Amino acid sequence: MRITIDEARLLAELKELSALTDCEQDAARPEDVAVTRVVFSENDRRARTWLKKLATDAGLLVREDAVGNTYFRLEGKEPELPVVGTGSHTDAIPFAGMYDGTVGVMGGLEALRAIKRSGVAHARGIELVMFTSEEPTRFGIGCLGSRLMGGVLDAARADAMRDENEMTLKELRAGCGFTGTLESVKLPEKYFSAFVELHIEQGPLLEHEGLQLGIVTSIAAPAGYRILIEGVGGHAGALLMPDRRDALCAAAEVILAIEKSALETKAIDTVATVGTCAVHPGAVNSVPWKVLLQVDVRDTDSARRESVMQRVRAAMREIEQRRGVKMTETLVNADEPAQSDAHIVETIEGICKRGKIAYRKMVSRAYHDSLFVARMAPVAMIFIPCRGGVSHRPDEFAAPGDIARGTQVLAETLARLAE
Ligand code: GLV
Ligand code: MN
Ligand code: MN
Repeated sequence: MRITIDEARLLAELKELSALTDCEQDAARPEDVAVTRVVFSENDRRARTWLKKLATDAGLLVREDAVGNTYFRLEGKEPELPVVGTGSHTDAIPFAGMYDGTVGVMGGLEALRAIKRSGVAHARGIELVMFTSEEPTRFGIGCLGSRLMGGVLDAARADAMRDENEMTLKELRAGCGFTGTLESVKLPEKYFSAFVELHIEQGPLLEHEGLQLGIVTSIAAPAGYRILIEGVGGHAGALLMPDRRDALCAAAEVILAIEKSALETKAIDTVATVGTCAVHPGAVNSVPWKVLLQVDVRDTDSARRESVMQRVRAAMREIEQRRGVKMTETLVNADEPAQSDAHIVETIEGICKRGKIAYRKMVSRAYHDSLFVARMAPVAMIFIPCRGGVSHRPDEFAAPGDIARGTQVLAETLARLAE
């Protein structure tokens, strides 16, 4: 009873999903596929409806929770047993590519269909999860759905979070039909007996080393901060330079201090990014008086990650004094790294060896919903190569053969874990 995935159908579905996007394509780069699909946008809702139809057609049971995490279940012979899970996300940051997250969701769907088609017996149910808002675009915090599932994020705090239009999560989810309390999103202990996420690597190692697959042994720890810088605004012509307390000039120094502090650890695993800079009032002839930075700092070592922010804080105090501005830091999230489960890693390795697949074990520097599923279940991840290590860009690309291979290994892993 060999499990065989349908590569052509999977690739066609990934292509179809990529058409649900809110950004224009760049006519000068016709081979790129730009995807913007922010949680609870019209295209996110279309993607959800489309995916539910595919899953229902495949005979899977569909269930949604109060934040829109969607579960697709292939029932096992012993429905009372904890299930084997897989899944990822279909939301996409502005001007992303078509593979981040989607390979894990569409590959997961195809894996479940392939297991069903094969008729292979499995005692445990196997569930695919489409997690809500893995990307932080709308609410500034990543892995929203999986955090709530793992009970890592306070429900009241989550419901009160606002997007840039001042809409709360509570209002936005209700608008999509996701009512109910966020407390109910938390899964019971031992819901999953094991969880495996398929994802593109988003880094260059597999390609550089000519390997076909990566098995993730740990996921680096991300932290997010907001830094508000308040200076004094005024007329761009009339406010003289010696009198200025320009918030954007102060922000520029903070941004460079963040870069410097990350470099000072001298560790290749330390990364820091200022990804947004909102300038108020944002007019060419107005001296900026308020700037909001969103900062992303990551490391495999959370103490070293914290040392980056300690140096940044010292720099901020000095810049405040010298420039006569005020800076306020807000912590959005500071998460711990996650370790993969040795038994799942061994299971994937066994499948790779039997299939003569060239693989390596590796760290994930990007975060994933698996980081939070790891709080409640044994997890591991399967990485496939992506061209040049490029991700979060329209030229993100994973080769059809790599997508198919990753999905095949996922299907075999899930079937084995569900035996
Ligand atoms: C996920 O998209 C991440 O930023 O790691
Ligand atoms: Mn992403
Ligand atoms: Mn992703």
